[in-house]
Amino acid sequence: MSSTLAVGVAGATGYAGQELLRLAARHPSVTVTAAMGSGSAEGVRRLPALARIWDGDVTPLSLDRLAAETRAVFLTLPDAVAAEVGPDLVARGVRVFDLSGTFRLRDAAERRHWYPATPDMDEPVVYGLTEHCREALPDARLVACPGCYPTAALLALRPLRDAGLLDDGGDVIIDAKSGISGAGKKPTERTHFSECHGSVAAYGVLAHRHGAEIEQELGRPVTFTPHLVPLDRGILETIYVRTRPGASAAQVADTLEQAYADAPFVRLTGDALPEIKHVTHTNLCDIGWKLDAASRRLVLVACLDNLVKGAAGQAIQNLNVAFGLGEATGLS
Ligand SMILES: NC(=O)c1ccc[n+]([C@@H]2O[C@H](COP(=O)([O-])OP(=O)(O)OC[C@H]3O[C@@H](n4cnc5c(N)ncnc54)[C@H](OP(=O)(O)O)[C@@H]3O)[C@@H](O)[C@H]2O)c1
Repeated sequence: MSSTLAVGVAGATGYAGQELLRLAARHPSVTVTAAMGSGSAEGVRRLPALARIWDGDVTPLSLDRLAAETRAVFLTLPDAVAAEVGPDLVARGVRVFDLSGTFRLRDAAERRHWYPATPDMDEPVVYGLTEHCREALPDARLVACPGCYPTAALLALRPLRDAGLLDDGGDVIIDAKSGISGAGKKPTERTHFSECHGSVAAYGVLAHRHGAEIEQELGRPVTFTPHLVPLDRGILETIYVRTRPGASAAQVADTLEQAYADAPFVRLTGDALPEIKHVTHTNLCDIGWKLDAASRRLVLVACLDNLVKGAAGQAIQNLNVAFGLGEATGLS
């Protein structure tokens, strides 16, 4: 009998799902026993991009098989599908790591607005920003892995908020840029190559569900403006905040350094501001900043790979902590 952990991936043919398989295939303590796409595809499929990395079969979605053959399942599915599948698997005793937005919002009205398919549930949900939820993960049966934009914003802002270094009344402005894979594999008029190539465009202004998620976790209003940039992967966020009177550059640096002293995937770059190229294909989130103490203007820059720390990598990081494996196992 294998001593590794049997895991499944539902949504294995998508961008996040394939990234999960790529990472899981090299994970020394995990075996992928089920990889599934939509039920609409006939029979078994293979993933040419993963040849010789993971050569398994992708089969149509079957909850019975996932329940019988896995102890943990990653859901890399559209929101409405995850809303149906997640609670069912949890009820059958499978631990679920959901990458969709379905279970992230706690407020019922907000959830109904952004994720109308999400059922009311008694099951507690852990919001899986690993660096800030390690204690809750070992007992979690349903983990809502954060969105890619919120992961970068919250890793940069939460320690400063917790330390009381942000001005209570000051606006928080998050100007975010993302590569096109953030929108999934199905092209739309907005994400089609000839629309994106050679262009940059704002979208979802004052109306993006990740704004609600960041506000929930930060406990204050934010102005969040995402942009699509002509890259395949990567997110860069430039965050503008005011510090409270008297906050110094040393306090900002000490607070972030203390918060992430034991975090293998957060790199603090200080005033050497991070770049997308430094983090793509890694589970790292790089955070840099500059403070003008006289005007109390703090500008933070946070970067990550939307498919790794923003999706598959963080989900595996959560699984590692949840099952008592080393946090960085399979991710370094
Ligand atoms: N892309 C990112 O950067 C990113 C980051 C964080 C979180 N997420 C979230 O992760 C989830 C997946 O995102 P993605 O970008 O990987 O999407 P994607 O590329 O569009 O892949 C979607 C996956 O879901 C499967 N699927 C679609 N409808 C289904 C159904 N009715 N039943 C069963 N399977 C179905 C697809 O299978 P077929 O191939 O058979 O259609 C495919 O495997 C989304 O909820 C997204 O919000 C994405």
